[in-house]
Amino acid sequence: MEQITFAPTFAGWQRAARRALARGIAPEAVAWEELGDDQPSLGIFGEEADDSGVDVSAFRVPRSFVALAESVACHRDPRRWGLLYRALWRLTHGEPRLLDLAVDPDVHALEAMEKAVRREVHKMRAFVRFRAVAHEGAEWHVAWFEPEHHIVERNAPFFRDRFAGMRWSILTPDRCAHWDGEHLSITAGVPRSEAPSADAVEGLWRTYYGNIFNPARVKTRAMRKEMPKRYWKNLPETAIIPALLARAPVRVERMIAASDAQVVRPEEWELARPPAGADWDALRDAAHSCRACPLWHDATQTVFGEGPRPAGLMLLGEQPGDQEDRAGHAFVGPAGKLLDAALAEAGIERGGAYLTNVVKHFKWEPRGKRRMHRTPGEREARACRPWLEAELRIVQPRVVVCLGATAATAAFGPGVRVARDRGEFRPSPLAPHTLVTWHPSALLRAPDPDTQARQRAEFVADLRAALRRREETRAA
Ligand code: URA
Repeated sequence: MEQITFAPTFAGWQRAARRALARGIAPEAVAWEELGDDQPSLGIFGEEADDSGVDVSAFRVPRSFVALAESVACHRDPRRWGLLYRALWRLTHGEPRLLDLAVDPDVHALEAMEKAVRREVHKMRAFVRFRAVAHEGAEWHVAWFEPEHHIVERNAPFFRDRFAGMRWSILTPDRCAHWDGEHLSITAGVPRSEAPSADAVEGLWRTYYGNIFNPARVKTRAMRKEMPKRYWKNLPETAIIPALLARAPVRVERMIAASDAQVVRPEEWELARPPAGADWDALRDAAHSCRACPLWHDATQTVFGEGPRPAGLMLLGEQPGDQEDRAGHAFVGPAGKLLDAALAEAGIERGGAYLTNVVKHFKWEPRGKRRMHRTPGEREARACRPWLEAELRIVQPRVVVCLGATAATAAFGPGVRVARDRGEFRPSPLAPHTLVTWHPSALLRAPDPDTQARQRAEFVADLRAALRRREETRAA
């Protein structure tokens, strides 16, 4: 039996496995011995396997095996290395199509491991909760997570892309990932005691969760499946779940009693619940945890409105786009640039108006590597509506400009048509003076330059009219 000692990462194993293959060592003759893990980063990303001195040309394996092995390497089961080597051996010794045999015990075991790792990657994305701490005079966000598998390095680029604008650390017992706004780094694991345990944001979280908690929706088995109990301790909201559950029957009774029809209508369960009487800061913080519709799941963050409060003028868009989703601010992408130019032409200072969207999460679908915008549906707009209404209560705009069809529908219902109805002030539930105009993205998508020029002129004229109306109604 040959003992092979290697760094327990994909690159470390790959290097060792290639050497073993080159020496013709059969799988049953190898004992895989993991090197002590005291180095900070052992190279899921960055480190290449060093094959110097080994002729690997004879060992071509399908790309799918490399992808599978990279994933399986993150599994915690120490038997994975031997299993991978046996599969590698078989692939290079007369069974090149091995991976097509889903019923083969080795393939089956590897695929199960790959699936477990994939799930864990997903769970980490869903259940990491950052806490704000002061660090060297600035704000740093720190999260504690206990992954079942070695997925921190694999997931770190995802968090870097999603939270590029924040500086953060994700601490785990195995590895820690850090992003300082410019560099991603990996350090050794730390004990839980190094993670901050509570902050002001968290108090808000609990209040908010208590507010939106709907006992009639509680399915504890489903909850455990989606949010395994071992993650609960890291989530601020779960600290209050037992108490809420204990009170659940009483609250269900109350909810039923409160309903006119003596039933709790399912569509009401999907409404966002802004904390009653909250000021704008508390609203924005609570909105960051909104789970009223499924859009939160694939979005980076809630993009809440911004601007003066009160403000005579509110500009209402549809939903954040790709760049807004990453930046956390409305209208900062291409449509935002066009809006800025049109506002300047109309004589409106962007900072003088309150800017928000009907839907506060980015709805998208993947197309290759891109996240393509999808128009939010009526249900999502309805679920999100309480946030808009809470903003309107605080901002008290006299004039609301609805940018595009989703915003126009939020004001006037489904019968409204932008091309037909734009440019006219009418009262709506949003404001006494509500104006529909083009969405800046519609100008970007205009079919030809003439149409674009016409729509742009109309857009600027509508914004000018909104400015005039704001001034005219100032004293009233
Ligand atoms: N489109 C919108 O409707 N809102 C934004 O914030 C960005 C693009």
